[in-house]
Amino acid sequence: MPLGISRKAAGIVPSATLALNAKVGVMKAAGENVIGFAGGEPDFDTPVAIRDAMKAALDAGKTRYTAAAGAPELRNAIKGKLKNENGLDYDISQIVVSNGAKHSIFNAFFALLNEGDEVIIPTPCWVSYPEMVKMCGGVPVFAQTTEKDNFVLKPSQIEAAITEKTKVFMLTSPSNPNGSCWGREDLQALADLAVKHDFYIMTDEIYEHLLYNGEKNISIATLGDKVKERTITINGVSKTYAMTGFRIGYAAGPKDVMKAIAACQSQATSNPNTPSQYAVIKALTMDQEPVEEMRKAFMKRRDALVEGLNAIDGISCLKPDGAFYVMMNVKKLIGKKSDGVVIDSCTTFAEQLLEHAKVAVVPGEAFMAAGFCRLSYALSMDDLLEGIKRIRAFVQSLT
Ligand SMILES: Cc1ncc(COP(=O)(O)O)c(C=O)c1O
Repeated sequence: MPLGISRKAAGIVPSATLALNAKVGVMKAAGENVIGFAGGEPDFDTPVAIRDAMKAALDAGKTRYTAAAGAPELRNAIKGKLKNENGLDYDISQIVVSNGAKHSIFNAFFALLNEGDEVIIPTPCWVSYPEMVKMCGGVPVFAQTTEKDNFVLKPSQIEAAITEKTKVFMLTSPSNPNGSCWGREDLQALADLAVKHDFYIMTDEIYEHLLYNGEKNISIATLGDKVKERTITINGVSKTYAMTGFRIGYAAGPKDVMKAIAACQSQATSNPNTPSQYAVIKALTMDQEPVEEMRKAFMKRRDALVEGLNAIDGISCLKPDGAFYVMMNVKKLIGKKSDGVVIDSCTTFAEQLLEHAKVAVVPGEAFMAAGFCRLSYALSMDDLLEGIKRIRAFVQSLT
């Protein structure tokens, strides 16, 4: 048998967003004044009460293994959160805590997919879904949304993507990379199709608290028992509580699926980080005012960014209802030149913008969104306004 990596691993591309952020980090460390719109994490500090809870957990000796699916106290807190905030009833045996929502999603694909099973992924999509599907032997089936439809799939588009091999539909609302949100009717149509054609819905609700339209997130599993039987709800604390480094996420769903997920996790990683689990109990049960403060700050930045970008000739963006991202449409700039270099794609645009204006944005190709760049507004208002100024000057400099 020759040496070498597996076929499965060979086809996996590294996360483009993490790679770009690493590059920006290196540029900043070298003293370059880069404005980063590429980040995928809140720039706020983790609320004090949560940090204190982490310290207290360490002092109380919460430094050993817990149950592989997560400490029962934490699963109880999650059970309460799902009931009170989402209207979802789950027993703690139906909840598995993992090392971040990313890990929860991977675990769920691993537990659900057989070789060749299809997963419908609306695009533009988060960079990790297709790669995770492939790592688990599945086949990503992309269903293209459009800016005109606010990046939400129409029922007819969902139906067109369904085949006999469809096993999972990947729902992300509010969405990374475009901040779009599915309304009740959109969700109901998807739920009906899942029941009719018998497939699972994996709903990634990690941005549920970052909503700016005055509405509350609707968890699709609340739309009826038959949908709930087919839904795996994913959530985590990274975005809501600015806890990306704590690495805690969780999944809730049908008993058999969760049992399989727990068994796989018990063999692969055991329990998630123990002190972090206790910090998350605090996050879920404390006064939620810090969450609202962060939401309001994000909303102000969204408004400033959307207004600033739309005031620049040649680019545009929608005003998304959720998350902390906008998709900047740069299609009108394709064919222009930057210092002699032809802008032939959003990747070239992003490269030139970084080189000449020291502004980092993620090219849409990473999200299956050619012609767009993703801008995160998880940066200070001062940096955001400076970034817009630089983008305007750069766009105006194109010939
Ligand atoms: C849509 C989406 N889901 C999941 C995650 C991962 O979250 P976690 O830090 O809990 O792994 C991210 C992070 O960027 C995300 O954007």
